[in-house]
Amino acid sequence: MSKKLKIGIFGFGVVGQGLHDIIITKNLNLEIVKFVIKDPNKKRTLAAELFTTDKDVVLDDPEINTVVELINDADAAYQIVKKALTSGKNVVSASKKMIAEHLEELIALQKEHGTSLLYEGSVCGSIPIIRNLEEYYDNELLHSISGIFNGSSNYILSKVYNEGLDYDTALKQAQDLGFAETDPISDVGGYDSKYKLIIAVAHAYGVIVKAEDVLNIGIQNLSPYELQYAKEKGIKIKLVPVAKELDDKHVAMFVLPKFVKQSEFLYNVDNEYNGVVVQAAFADQQFFFGKGAGGHPTGSAVLSDIAALRYDYQYEYKKTSGVKDLKFTNDIELAIYLRYDDEALVEALSFDAIYERYYSGDFKYVIGKVKLQNLIAQQQHIANSKAFVAFAGELSDVQLATI
Ligand code: HSE
Repeated sequence: MSKKLKIGIFGFGVVGQGLHDIIITKNLNLEIVKFVIKDPNKKRTLAAELFTTDKDVVLDDPEINTVVELINDADAAYQIVKKALTSGKNVVSASKKMIAEHLEELIALQKEHGTSLLYEGSVCGSIPIIRNLEEYYDNELLHSISGIFNGSSNYILSKVYNEGLDYDTALKQAQDLGFAETDPISDVGGYDSKYKLIIAVAHAYGVIVKAEDVLNIGIQNLSPYELQYAKEKGIKIKLVPVAKELDDKHVAMFVLPKFVKQSEFLYNVDNEYNGVVVQAAFADQQFFFGKGAGGHPTGSAVLSDIAALRYDYQYEYKKTSGVKDLKFTNDIELAIYLRYDDEALVEALSFDAIYERYYSGDFKYVIGKVKLQNLIAQQQHIANSKAFVAFAGELSDVQLATI
């Protein structure tokens, strides 16, 4: 028999409303007691008595056993989730930044207070990747996890590449459709993808990594040159987070734009869709596809977590207590494409091998192998000089010379 849930929901934005739309179509053993909102003057589509601006109305109500946190302020979300878990309430959250930044403490709080925090909606919207990493791949050796984890940047890249829209118009559309974060640099700069990768890696490898230690280079310096280059070669540019087990002791992670070939699953993942590619030792390659942003897709993942709480489901973080003691490392080399103006950047990156160089007027690029550490050290230089970096690492050296 499922437990009756009495729910307090923080946030009635895109995801909160999407969740509500879905819940009212279901006959689940649950009751939404209150929505906690920030702006009392905003016109709402539901009865006024369902709303409050006082978070303690929910957090201090002993009748409410479940908190759903769907706000876009990571610091406020942290305080809410911490207090709820500490006071014996189970929590569903979609705040990827907050979860990635406090994961270690949030796991400890769950253990200490016997409460459960579920966050499927925080990673790749409607794609059930966390539950699969946690349960299905429990005994699998995962060689790598990569994909498209950010709907807004993928929407922009798709519109620019497929329809010739300019970058700013595509970004504005992503914002109007409710996909983008409040500060879109989080999307286009690869931060949002990185937070999601960090959460996925905790479940895939049992490694908890600090966000500041992981490289993220985004698509904000995309120029018509890259688009022309990609079109000529029949490849697409996607923003791709990667986690790779290097050996039985080390996991590497980074977020970079990537040249994606037609033969790859991610090639056809367009607009706000996300995709996750899992390379497993026994299952081999598997691909998850679905909408990564938007009220209903994310709301469906949140509802799945809420439904799981009726049976007191908890993540066990099985791999964090596994026999393997994997460590995060940035000690790897990557093949990259670098479009640049400033020759000093090429010098500073200190390429270990160069496969191809091109100069024509304003368009200069180099394809070669660099240490990830050097990319991290030159991150500011890359941003300031408006250079564009793309991962070209899965192409063989021979293909690299000819793409
Ligand atoms: N801004 C995020 C995205 C929302 O575009 O993917 C979903 O997490």
